[in-house]
This record gives sequence, structure tokens and C-alpha cells, in this order.
Amino acid sequence: MKKEIVVCRCEEVTLEEIRQWINRGYDSFDELKRVLRVGMGPCQGRGCRDIILKEIARAKGVPVSEVPVGTFRPPAKPVKLGILAEGGDK
Ligand code: FES
Repeated sequence: MKKEIVVCRCEEVTLEEIRQWINRGYDSFDELKRVLRVGMGPCQGRGCRDIILKEIARAKGVPVSEVPVGTFRPPAKPVKLGILAEGGDK
């Protein structure tokens, strides 16, 4: 029995799917985001981005520090409107 490894839990994307798309030439986080929706779930990639970047680095044979992290769109972290209204950084 083959066990599926789910990398992006929000969008239910498996390691096998990610590897298949990388092998097709989609070897950046943003490209994988467009075709698989990884990083677009409620956690905005906090649960899967690092794993996917490491997988891209492994496939390309480069250090993970050389793999672009992809586009972050605001809000990168949820912020309560009350904090913004007060102008503070609680
Ligand atoms: S685990 Fe991938 S977007 Fe949340």
C-alpha cells in the first residue's frame, strides 16, 4: 500500500503531485501556486512553503537559500482591525 504524503494540508496537495509538476518544469513556488494552489489556503503557505522550497531545491540540486520564496500578498499575518485603528503594534 502506497502512503500519500500531504504537504499542503489546506489545499490537500501531496508530495507526489508537487514532484510531478516540478518535473514538468514548474520549479518555482509561484508556478506551483498557480497550478496546484499551494500556499493559497487559510494559512497562506505557513504550513507548506518551507517544505515545497526544500523540494524545489532538492530537484534542482541547489541550496534552499537559492530558491526564491515566492510572492507574499498582504496581509501576510492576520491583524485585528482594532490594532490598526489604534495605530499601535500590540
Ligand atoms: S498548508 Fe499550504 S496553504 Fe496552508
